[in-house]
Amino acid sequence: MLNFTFYSPTYFVFGKDTECQSGEYVRKFGGSRVLIHYGGGSVVRSGLLARVEQSLTDAGVTFVELGGVMPNPRSGLVYEGIELCKREKVDFVLAVGGGSVIDSAKAIALGSCYDGDFWDFYEDRTRTASATALPVGVVLTIAAAGSEGSSDSVITKEEGMLKRATGGDCLRPKFSILNPALTQTLPPYQTASGATDIMAHVFERYFTNTTHVETTDRLCEAVLMAMIHEVPKVIADPNDYEARANIMWAGMVAHNDICGVGREQDWNSHWLEHEISAVNDCAHGAGLAVVMPAWMEYVVDHDVMRFAQVATRVWGCSMDYADPRATAMAGIEAFRNFLRSIGMPTTMAELGAKEEDIPYFVKTLGLNGGETGGFVHLKDADAEAIYRLACK
Ligand code: NZQ
Ligand code: ZN
Repeated sequence: MLNFTFYSPTYFVFGKDTECQSGEYVRKFGGSRVLIHYGGGSVVRSGLLARVEQSLTDAGVTFVELGGVMPNPRSGLVYEGIELCKREKVDFVLAVGGGSVIDSAKAIALGSCYDGDFWDFYEDRTRTASATALPVGVVLTIAAAGSEGSSDSVITKEEGMLKRATGGDCLRPKFSILNPALTQTLPPYQTASGATDIMAHVFERYFTNTTHVETTDRLCEAVLMAMIHEVPKVIADPNDYEARANIMWAGMVAHNDICGVGREQDWNSHWLEHEISAVNDCAHGAGLAVVMPAWMEYVVDHDVMRFAQVATRVWGCSMDYADPRATAMAGIEAFRNFLRSIGMPTTMAELGAKEEDIPYFVKTLGLNGGETGGFVHLKDADAEAIYRLACK
C-alpha cells in the first residue's frame, strides 16, 4: 500500500425530505447570501427548487438564482455565474441538481475568488491544490458523478469543445443533502447512465499496479456487488426507495476516494470518454458503457489475474485455473451483458458517436506523444485502438 492522505470533510444529510433543511445547513457553514445554481428545469417541474427556496427564506438567507446548466456543463454559464456572484456579493454557492450542476457550481465558486480566467484551473489542475473557493453546498438529484463528495469538477470549454477536469480540497462540498426520493423522477436511461458511472469510478480505482491493497479491493468489490444487486430493481421499479437509497450512497462511496486511497489509479476510460461526450453531448455514463469494456479488453493481458479476480469475486464466474485469461474475459463479458440488461449502449454506433470522429477524439485527448493512465500507460495509438474496439 502507498502512503496517502485522505480528507473528506463533507457533512452528509441523508434521507426523505432532507432538502427542507437546506437553509439550516447553509447557515451552519457560514452562508448568508447564496447563489442557487440549477439545470434545465427538472428541479422547477418537481417542485424541489421551491422547497429549497422556502427553506433558505425560513433560515433568513437571501439568494439569487442561475439556472440553465446543461449536461456536460459549459464554460459560458460559469463566466455568467462568476460575474453574478461578484456583483451580488454572494458568499455561498448551492447546487441543486446532478453532477453537471455541482461541477458548474464548483467552477463558479473557484472563479469567484480569482482575478484571472477560471479556465486556468482546468488547463493546469495542479493550481487548484492551493486555490481558494467560495463554500459549496449540494442538494443532489441523481446518483451518478459522485461530485457531491468529490474534490473534482469537469467543465467543457465551448471554444474547441474541450472537456477538462480539475480537483482540489477547496472544491469538496461543505454539505451534501442526499434524498433518494428525489431520484425517482429520473428517466430509466439516465438512472442506468448514473449507475454505470458509479461502477466505472470503482473500476478506475480497482485496476492498479499497487499490491497489498486488500481493504480497498474488498470495499470496491462490495460497492460493485451492491450495484449489481440494486440497479435492476430500480430499472424494474423506479419508485423503489430502498434500492434508490443504496445506489445513492454507493455513488458517494465510489467517488470520495475511500475506495482508492493507498493505490495508483487508472482513469484512462474517463479521459477517453470525456472526448466523446464533449463532441456528442451524450450522457457521461453511457459513454463509459461503450469505452470501459473496450478498454478492459485492450489491457487485460497487463494483469490477467486482477481481471480474473474481479470476474470470480464480483461477477460469480468460476476460475479456470488452466486458462485464467478465459476467466478474465468472462468477467468483462459479464460486465458488458449487465450494461446491456440495464439499457446501456455498448458500441459507438449505439451511442450515436461516429467512427470517423476517432482521429479528432485522439487529437483532443491531447497526449501529444505523451502518455496517460495509472494502470496501463496509453499513447495515441493505444487510445485510437480502444476507440476502434468500442465500435465493434
Ligand atoms: O438539467 P435538468 O433539467 O435538471 O435534467 C438533468 C439532466 O438532463 C436530469 N436530471 C437530474 N436529476 C433529475 C433529472 N431528471 C429528472 N429527475 C431528476 N431527479 O438528468 C440529466 C443529467 O444530469 P447531469 O447532472 O448531467 O448528470 P450526472 O450527475 O451524470 O453528471 C454528469 C457530469 O458529471 C461529470 C461528467 O463528465 C458530466 O459532465 N463528472 C463529474 C465528476 C466529478 N465532479 O467528480 C466525476 C465523473 O466522473 C464525471 O466525469
Ligand atoms: Zn465518471
